[in-house]
Formats: sequence, C-alpha cells, structure tokens
Amino acid sequence: MSTPRTSAEVCGMGHSMKRKEDPRFIRGKGNYVDDIQLPGMLHMDIVRSPYAHAKIRSINAERALKIPGVLAVITGETLAKYNLHWMPTLMSDTQMVLPTEKVMYQAQEVAAVIATDRYVAADGVEAVEVEYDPLPVVVDPFKALDPSAPILRTDKKDKKDNRIFHWQAGDRAATDKAFAEADVVVAQDMYLPRIHVASIETCGCVADFDRVNGKLTVYMTTQAPHAVRTVFALVAGHVGLSEEKIRIVSPDIGGGFGGKVPVYPGYVIAVAASVVIGKPVKWVEDRMENLQADSFARDYHIHAELAATKDGTMKALRIKTLADHGYADAAANPSKFPAGLFSICTGSYDLKNAFAEVDGVYTNKAPGGIAYRCSFRVTEAVHCIERITDVLAQELKMDPAELRMKNFIPPEKFPYKSALGWEYDSGNYPAALRKAMDIVGYEALRKEQAEKRARGELMGIGISSFTEIVGAGPSKQFDILGLKMFDSCEIRVHPTGKAMARFGTKSQGQGHETTYAQIVAEELGIPAAHVQVEEGDTDTAPYGLGTYASRSTPTAGAAGAMAARKIREKAKKIAAHLLECLPDDLVWEPGKFTVKGAPSRSKTIQEIALAAYTNHPQGMEAGLEAVSYYDPPNLTFPFGSYIAVVDIDRGTGAVKVRRFVAVDDCGNIINPMIVDGQIHGGLAMGLAPALLEEISYDEDGNITGGSFMDYLLPTAMETPSWETAKTVTPSPHHPFGAKGVGESATVGAPPAIANAVVDALSHVGVRHVDIPVTPEKVWRLLKEKGLSE
Ligand code: CDP
Repeated sequence: MSTPRTSAEVCGMGHSMKRKEDPRFIRGKGNYVDDIQLPGMLHMDIVRSPYAHAKIRSINAERALKIPGVLAVITGETLAKYNLHWMPTLMSDTQMVLPTEKVMYQAQEVAAVIATDRYVAADGVEAVEVEYDPLPVVVDPFKALDPSAPILRTDKKDKKDNRIFHWQAGDRAATDKAFAEADVVVAQDMYLPRIHVASIETCGCVADFDRVNGKLTVYMTTQAPHAVRTVFALVAGHVGLSEEKIRIVSPDIGGGFGGKVPVYPGYVIAVAASVVIGKPVKWVEDRMENLQADSFARDYHIHAELAATKDGTMKALRIKTLADHGYADAAANPSKFPAGLFSICTGSYDLKNAFAEVDGVYTNKAPGGIAYRCSFRVTEAVHCIERITDVLAQELKMDPAELRMKNFIPPEKFPYKSALGWEYDSGNYPAALRKAMDIVGYEALRKEQAEKRARGELMGIGISSFTEIVGAGPSKQFDILGLKMFDSCEIRVHPTGKAMARFGTKSQGQGHETTYAQIVAEELGIPAAHVQVEEGDTDTAPYGLGTYASRSTPTAGAAGAMAARKIREKAKKIAAHLLECLPDDLVWEPGKFTVKGAPSRSKTIQEIALAAYTNHPQGMEAGLEAVSYYDPPNLTFPFGSYIAVVDIDRGTGAVKVRRFVAVDDCGNIINPMIVDGQIHGGLAMGLAPALLEEISYDEDGNITGGSFMDYLLPTAMETPSWETAKTVTPSPHHPFGAKGVGESATVGAPPAIANAVVDALSHVGVRHVDIPVTPEKVWRLLKEKGLSE
C-alpha cells in the first residue's frame, strides 16, 4: 500500500505563514461569495482524509483548540447530536456530512475548524489529530461488482453488493434479433474518464443565522437556489429551519457547469456552525479541495456494438455500461433517470432497434456523476455513438461522412420517435454536415491526407454529427427529488413603462441578463435596456429548478415569453379602454397597440403601463404584471456537425488540432454573439477531455490527478481558432422556436477530435483510442505500430 498523504497535503496546504502570501488567497472585489464580508464573520476550514477507505479510530482536537482564535472543532459526533451527520443526495441516496465511523474516499471531510480568521482556521486543521485504521480499497468498478469485493456501504444494513442501480431502455429481444440477422457487427470498449468542471471559482458559502428573527441566509455558489432551500428545509426542519425562514442567495458565480448543483458537506457544516454559534460562517474551498472532493463527471465504462448491412445501413445498437459513481450516488440527474439521458445514444441515426443498459457502482472515490456542461449523460451517449459509427465506417471501408449521410434521420421524418423512446422535435442533419464539409473543404482535405500518408506524415479528419437533448423537462417525466422540472418568470411593468423580470434559473456567466431582457423586449416592445433581470435570490425570484443542462432557454426563457404574453393580453384590454374601442379592434406591433384601419390612434406600452396604475378600467385589477410557471411539452433537440483536422507529431505523439469547424443548430437564436461565446467556450471545454484532462487514482485510491500540475486545462496554446457557423431549424413547440445551446459544443467536440486521431492512424490498423488522447498514449501507439520517429 502506498503511503497516504497527510490531510494538509491532500488539501494542497503548507504552513500558514507561507499560505498568507499565497496568491490563491488574494481576493478580488466583486459580487462573489468570497467577496462577502459580514460583521463578526467566522471562517471554516476542513480536515480531510488522507485515506480512501479507513475506520476513524479517534479525532483529537485538543491542540487545535489551544490555538488563539480557534473557536470550535466540529466532528461527525457533533452533528450526530442533531441528526445532521448524513444528508440525502439529489438521487435519493445518502451521503455523509461528516463521518462518525469511517471515511470512504481520499479528501473526504473528516472535521471542520471554526476560527476568527481564515488562516487560523487552516492552522487549526493542521493541528487536529486523526487516527485511522485503513480498510481495503475498491477503485475499479468492475472489481467492485465481484462477489469477493468488500461491501462499501456498510451503513446500509441490507446492502449485499456494491451495485447502486440497474437501468435499461429499449427492446432487448428485437435488438438481439437484428444483431443475429446483420451482415456486419462491430464492437468497441471505450472509457470516458472521470473529469472535473474546474470552474474558475471553487465552491463556498457564507451561512448567516440571525438569532433575533430566526432567519437563515445562505450566500452560496449554487446553480439551483430554490431546490437547495427546499432540501435545507426538509433536512433541517427538525432543528427549527423552516422554509419561510431560509433565504438562499446565489450571487455572481464564477462558472458552475453542473458542479454547483449538488449540496456538498461544506455548505451543511457551515450552516450548522452558524446556527449553533449564532454568527456568520464563511467556507470557501481551495483549488485542490475542489479538484479532489467534488464536481466530478463521466467515469463511464462503455461496451458498444453496432449492427449494419453490407452497404452501411445501420440496423441496431446495443450498449452495456458500468458507471462509477464513487461512494454515493450524488449525481444531479432527474429522479426517473438514474443514467441521465444516456438513452439519446441512438444519436442522429435512423436506428430501428436499440437496447442500452447501465449499472451504477459504488467505489472508494468522491461522489460523482454530475452533469458537467451536459444534459445528464448526453456527452457519454454522443461519444459512444459517434465513435462506434466511425468504427463501423472503418470496418466497411466507407467514408465516415458518407456513412453518416446514409443513416441520418431524414428531415421529413420529424417529429421523430427514437427506438429508445424520445420524440425528437426537429432536425436537419444532412444540411449541418454538408455545411461543415463545405466550410472545411472536406474533399480537398481527404486528398491532402492521402498525399501526406504517402510521405509518412500523420493527419486525420474527424466528424461528430451529434444530437443533443436539453430543456429538462416536461413534468410528466422530469423531477428532482419530486420537484417537477418546470421553470418560471415573473414580470412587473412599472408605471413609467420600465420592467423587472425575475427568473427561477441562475446564470453562471451565460449572459441571462442580456438574453432574458431581449426576450421580454421582443414580446413587449420595452427596450431591453429598460428591463431589469434578476435571478438567484429565493426571497424575490419565483420558484424554479435552476440553471444546468442547457435548460434555461427551453424552460425559463419560454416562461419569460409566456409571462410577457399574459401582460400583453391585459395591456390590450387597457389600450381598448383608453382608445374607446373593443380589444379585438386592436393590432399589436412591437411596442404599441393600434386601432385597425386608424393608424394614428394608438397607445404605446409605456402609456398603457402608466394607465395600469392611474386610469385602469373599472372592474379590472390595477397593475401590470404576470408570472408563468412553464412546463415544457417536450425537450428540445439541438444538433450540429463538427469536423476536426489534426496533425500528429511522430516524434512526440503530440496531437495538434489544426482546424475545427463547428456548425450548430439551436433553433431560433436570441443573441448570436452570446451563442457564439457559448460555442467557443464549449469547444475549449470539449477539447480539454479529448486531449488533456483526467482525474485518475492509484490502486489505493490516492488521487493522481488532483492538482493543476497533473490535471491539465486547455490554454490558448492547445486551442485552435474555432470556425463556427449555424443552421436554423426552429423547435416547433418552444414559444419562440429556440432550443438550448450552452453545452452543445462540450458534447459534440470530444468525439470529433478522437475520431480525427483514430483517422490519422487508421491505415495502420488503429481502431480506437480512449480520451484523453495524450502524447504519451499516442507515442506508445506509434511505437507499437512502428511509426514513431
Ligand atoms: O441553461 P443555460 O443558460 O446554460 O443554457 P442555454 O439555455 O443554452 O443558454 C445559454 C445562453 O445562450 C443564454 O444566455 C441563452 O439565452 C442564449 N441562447 C440564445 O441566445 N439563443 C438560443 N437559441 C439558445 C440560447
């Protein structure tokens, strides 16, 4: 067994004197959690486990409590007195807040130190002495299912193995039959490694319990403030925290990407500390705590099979997957979808038969499975179908573009019912791929590739024609912990014709302030500059499920349009009263109602707004406001075709993405510049796992990729100049024809790059390479194939 690190090493900490000069602790001035300073505020830091699996023999806080300024050391025993040492996860599993018996992953929270100063709290952490008795560690999910594997969740008395769930979709018998009858069958194992959102801002909160009026305010880095409020009320109701006395404020967030949806132990401990001590308590993770203990995604081991005829017509898809969730199922999936929306894995292809199954498994790793810039496992699904499609092309010696064109769902077949049960709203896949091929100059590139190959140079072209599934979701299928996944907007038009629009979502940098104002402006004719957009404060915003999985435009954006339309209906009645005509005699043009056939007789929305408070019709309520809780009738299905061109250095194995063309279709676009920003950022976040990022573990559960020294983020050096373009296929059911877009590029880019790398090496028999395609991995392949220089 390798030597575990100390708690301080796990957290990336040295001595406090050194830390005081550490740039990680220099604060900016903004509206972030870490900028919040409250009178009398205390600070919290966390003792973390150096072991991945161990019994806690003892925790000795004596030395820590002697440090001037250290006020308290909170352990699992402390929380157990209030029954707050365990909490539910969003998937109705349970997760420790602080342990009373054993730790289950390296960097797990073991105790918390509360002090008057942040650095003193860190000194306290180093002074807490914990004795552990190491237990056998399970890091491999395949081994975790072996009958001889130790059962990890000993807290669950009836648990006899390490399986969390088995999920399946599709018709197994029909799929097996189609496979038996097929001319060609290809199969491929692939692994999508554990990765981390690595947002600029780590997680943190300021919990502020006001003893005088019994109200708890928590400023926290959350993407879903309302859901958190309800969870806090349900979990801590028995200690007096009632929902009307809880206010969650999510100020500016420095990136979330799904990682800030779950409730992490640190939040709960800070709240408990504030309630008990009666003072505000701030907790902000440092970078390594963030990288090692929360916000993990992917970790899917996939076995995919695709059956086809000799001419390349796809017949059936069969997938078996093992999902490593770490020690708790703390994914942020909708309740009915333990494997997220993985069943979008038939992708853009007209596949009549499909069967997919996923088994969730416990291991000694931090809880994972968050929807990292993806709609609950769509990234895994897209990678799988786009990779296996290329494997089939290679087997059939067909051009991958031709194979895709042959199998795309034809545009006239929409709305299209997929073999795994989704109704795709709209799409035109051939148009997107054709456009990408034209922009990149596909035929010329294939010629160039052939010439280069003849000269011994390695160049590859990779395609990904993905279908997304976003906008969770219709309440008949979608809920989180029972809360239906609608979203909301409340608009108030003030007497001077200016408006306030509040939403149940929460931007983390996606520009909702701009695009939501545009939606209201478009619907009501009030200039966008006069629409104040607010989100993230549960005391003011209407209830909503938050922002993740590109759901904001399909849900809250739609609610914005619907609320504005309600206001327009009322405005019409007020205009008719002012113009002394019937409402039906009025026509709407942006910003005013005009009497049909009398263009000089009109009332602007501003005049109507004033009348709503000064001269409204008798019998009508005064005011001009409306709220909409929008329950989408279906999800939206954005799509795109991406083409990557890579060159591989035969000396080092380094992959250079020379060109990357991204054609996206998100239906009608609200703001082209914001959409392009989303695509550019998403592409960089797609290139990252394709080439660089992986959180890995050794066999003792030590994290071997837990700092930015090992976990490599993309920089300008690795990213090419993205070439973006659009096609527009509106959603037929969304109020203004839009689909979500925020995650498309993160979902679509990795298989394009992986396919390009395999394409560069296909002539020597390489059929697959797992991401991240690191220089080392490629170099080993080149060596194996006799291609290295
Ligand atoms: O939920 P999230 O905000 O991450 O994702 P989204 O709904 O895809 O929106 C991302 C940003 O792009 C928002 O500011 C949207 O309003 C904007 N957008 C747009 O301008 N047009 C679209 N068709 C879709 C999104």
